[in-house]
Amino acid sequence: MNDIFSAIQASAKRIKEAIDVKDIGYSQQENSSGETQLELDIKSDMIIEEEFSKVASIHTIASEEKTHQELLHEDGKYYIAYDPLDGSSLVDVNLSVGSIFGIYEGGFGADKMVAACYVVYGPRVEMVFAHNKVKLYLLQAGDFEFVKEIHLNNKGKLMAPGGTQQNWPPYHKVMIDNFFAQGYRLRYSGGMVPDLHQILLKGGGLFSYPATSDKPDGKLRRLFEVFPFAFVYEKAGGEAVNGTEPLLSLGFAHVHDTSPCFFGSKKEVSVVKEVYSQNV
Ligand code: AHG
Repeated sequence: MNDIFSAIQASAKRIKEAIDVKDIGYSQQENSSGETQLELDIKSDMIIEEEFSKVASIHTIASEEKTHQELLHEDGKYYIAYDPLDGSSLVDVNLSVGSIFGIYEGGFGADKMVAACYVVYGPRVEMVFAHNKVKLYLLQAGDFEFVKEIHLNNKGKLMAPGGTQQNWPPYHKVMIDNFFAQGYRLRYSGGMVPDLHQILLKGGGLFSYPATSDKPDGKLRRLFEVFPFAFVYEKAGGEAVNGTEPLLSLGFAHVHDTSPCFFGSKKEVSVVKEVYSQNV
């Protein structure tokens, strides 16, 4: 696992450099979800693939930017699904973006997840690695330094409600409105990594991306985004559900499958489960 940790660190430093120096422009390629890729997505994907290719313990990779999985080392045991640059459309407005990694053993699937990691490229570069514990690292003078362990409070104050409101189910809107009526504060940038990072580091709250009328299976991808953050939140003492079920109990049929998702501290997620079990 140490070699994977080091490869992610090496990738993160190179991606940070690419973000800092690269011209922003749209490429002509589309990814498998039909979005126009930014050049930085592609560049970040190439960097990560290059770094992972040097790690013998990695068997297969799947990237949000690739249609198919890629075998790297026949004898490796780890399968890594990653989103090389999540929220890349935020780069041109200079908001934070991130890379997300789900590390699976023996194949892909929530039940095979052994570690998860994400990197936030903001005013500073931070990395959160969840294995047995959830640890925060800060890039300083070229190296990632350990900062602290992360623990969520039982209840937080922040609310990050994703998706287009007019397409939310009515009970979801009522639930979110109720949270705000209780004093929760809106914190939503449109980047999953910084939005979930903020909730984690500020003690708790709720990030939601529900099923909507235009996206009945949600928007966020199970292997690259949903399972890794579910793992991080659970290890930090929070919870992550699709409304009624733990996200880490879900399967997947295709590497690009999505799911409605809710990540938060236990109190807020208990409200989600109560509301959703009565309405779905
Ligand atoms: P993209 O990579 O296309 O910019 O999408 C970002 C993702 C995720 O990071 C974020 O939480 C979510 O999309 C935001 O979606 P909405 O704008 O629909 O809320």
